[in-house]
Amino acid sequence: MKILSVVGARPNFMKIAPFIRAIADHNCLGGDQIEHVLVHTGQHYDDSMSKAFFKALDIPDADINLGIGSGSHAEQVGKTMIAFEKVVRKEKPDWVVVVGDVNATCACSITAKKEHVKCAHIEAGLRSRDMDMPEEINRLVTDRLSDLLLTPDRLSSENLRQEGVAEKRIRFVGNIMIDTLEAQRAKAEKLNPCDIVNNALLEGQGVLTEKQSAAIHAGQVAVMTMHRPSNVDDKAILSGIMDFLMNEVAADMPLVWAVHPRTVKQMQTFGLWDKALALQNFLLLQPLGYHDLLRLNMSARVMLTDSGGLQEECCVLGTPCLTLRWNTERPVTLREHGGASVLVGNNVEKIRAEYRVALAMDRQPLRPELWDGNTAGRIVEALLRASC
Ligand code: UD1
Repeated sequence: MKILSVVGARPNFMKIAPFIRAIADHNCLGGDQIEHVLVHTGQHYDDSMSKAFFKALDIPDADINLGIGSGSHAEQVGKTMIAFEKVVRKEKPDWVVVVGDVNATCACSITAKKEHVKCAHIEAGLRSRDMDMPEEINRLVTDRLSDLLLTPDRLSSENLRQEGVAEKRIRFVGNIMIDTLEAQRAKAEKLNPCDIVNNALLEGQGVLTEKQSAAIHAGQVAVMTMHRPSNVDDKAILSGIMDFLMNEVAADMPLVWAVHPRTVKQMQTFGLWDKALALQNFLLLQPLGYHDLLRLNMSARVMLTDSGGLQEECCVLGTPCLTLRWNTERPVTLREHGGASVLVGNNVEKIRAEYRVALAMDRQPLRPELWDGNTAGRIVEALLRASC
């Protein structure tokens, strides 16, 4: 069996690493070998957004890089389809495996099916029901086309059933992100959170003061990531959130923000950058590596994020998480399902109220069913069975 798997952007890398390892484990057992070709579409290309993750997670270099880079959604999807079609025609895989919900996921699932190649989707069935999110469009298209839908939780399987997907296409396998978390947890635990912050502080921020270091060591630190267009592309929304963070959160404890390139660009465009850089306790960092962010998450008093993956990691680590969105495709991580996350959108009053609640909460780790670190092995088995 020949599998061609695809990654494009940062959140894909922690999903593909365990899958590649599980293929290698399968091949070590002897028997029918799986031939694997890794394609990177090149949507994320900065070292800190891509190469660093390959290195940290022991992902072998991609066999093929399509070099797509930045652009509008149509440009990214269109260019990816054109380049990937050539790869599929040359490589003639039995399966194309796509992960997550980025533009690469959608573009390559369409191309695979048009080339009559079977497609499997890892992390299928997630639904935010928010069609303003590009990722929701990617999920719907990818799931509609894929032959094998590998879901992370039972709610996602149920979403697919409600859309009329035949039972034989759905396999509940668990959350592959947690395979990576469990494989890397011990390594992250050994890191010193203050070293992480000092090494990643942006130019002009100096180094941590003794008071800040002591607070971070004591777990009195707010950790932040935010990059969604709905939060960072509108000046009033971005400046409202930043005012709250600067005036209130940074007054309580150091706030550590690993800033995505899109967010840096928007802060600069809106004239918010210099003030943010100058503020004491408001610590802007370069994008962090996997272990560094995992370590800071382990220490955080509270996480503020609009990322999908961090909601899941906070759930397993029990970090109180304010999800800066009005909806989530990952409801299993919410407090009403026993998780650590709460939706606060981008309304400052709501964020403030839930921030106060979060500060009063203890860590409450939750491990949803099959988030056990063994999902990748189940995926390889499912692919083998579906090929018989
Ligand atoms: C993409 C994914 C999103 C995911 C996010 C994680 C889609 C639709 N979105 O959004 O689901 O949560 O990745 O990071 O696929 N840039 C750089 N260097 C890079 C990559 C991007 O500077 O290596 C800058 C460019 O200015 C670019 C902008 O970031 O225009 C946005 O990048 P893009 O890949 O278009 O989308 P993300 O916002 O990263």
